[in-house]
Amino acid sequence: TWTTGNVIEEQVEAIREQVGDKRAICGLSGGVDSAVAAALVQKAIGSQLTCVYVDHGLMRKGETEQVEKDFVAATGVQLKVVDASERFLNALQGVSDPEEKRKIIGREFIRVFEQAQAEIIADEGPAVEFLVQGTLYPDVVESGGGTGTANIKSHHNVGGLPEDLEFKLIEPLRKLFKDEVRMVGQELGLPEEIVQRQPFPGPGLGIRIVGEVTKERLDLLREADAIAREELTAAGLDRDIWQCPVVLLADVRSVGVQGDGRTYGHPIVLRPVSSEDAMTADWSRLPYDVLAKISTRITNEVRDVNRVVLDVTSKPPGTIEWE
Ligand code: XMP
Repeated sequence: TWTTGNVIEEQVEAIREQVGDKRAICGLSGGVDSAVAAALVQKAIGSQLTCVYVDHGLMRKGETEQVEKDFVAATGVQLKVVDASERFLNALQGVSDPEEKRKIIGREFIRVFEQAQAEIIADEGPAVEFLVQGTLYPDVVESGGGTGTANIKSHHNVGGLPEDLEFKLIEPLRKLFKDEVRMVGQELGLPEEIVQRQPFPGPGLGIRIVGEVTKERLDLLREADAIAREELTAAGLDRDIWQCPVVLLADVRSVGVQGDGRTYGHPIVLRPVSSEDAMTADWSRLPYDVLAKISTRITNEVRDVNRVVLDVTSKPPGTIEWE
């Protein structure tokens, strides 16, 4: 029978055997999947693991600090932080197509990793041969790698990998669904705050700006997202919601009025959904007063946003993300 204890034991043994006396690196994204994968590998091989956190500038407000502080405190893992935000912004310049954005972000991510790897290799120690990935079962299926459907998006941690990958992969969560990953994380002693964190896509806010990604748009979306998260948490709704993408329709403007003046600003979309595993989802029936508070705050506090709209589409036919 399936127990978290069995899964951990089995994986720890498999990872030890696979890695031997070599070293591994693991990219931390700030999400549950990479955190649990890293904690599992840390349990198996300890200081043979080095975690790398690539700040691609597409993170949400406060996220980098959370990884640096909370995760390191909980696991004692070795962490290297790389600030690559300029590089990602340059690579994304002029790009609006969602799949192209994913490919660029995936490609740059790996290149930054290879640099980090080179630096880690330059330190004393055995060869760095392995890369840890927090790939889940639904990722495998949706990317066409399992028994499931055709490729829907060049998704997640599977399809986004470029051909010139130099690492052997360790994917200890490949057979697990999200709720199982959370249980494993809990069993491994990760703090509630990390284990219960809602999913956030690897390409980050880059695929939550419908249109070109720019620094100004990222700053704007980051503010709106922080307000939505703050109010949902304050209302005690985090456990009811699978995730709530906050999306900036950067190429859309609509007319509004503020004070004495006519405005011509961008809409922000709220996309709260409930789900078991992200394969299907339903839009969350949030209390009106919470929606009202979020709307009022975003339009008051975020420059250039004059409208907040609610996405009431289930998945299918809509995906959870807008891109
Ligand atoms: P969709 O939009 O396909 O999303 O309904 C399903 C789940 O996957 C997340 N997602 C991604 N995660 N890289 C990721 O790591 C991606 O490119 C990506 N696209 C979507 C999404 O947030 C949801 O949890």
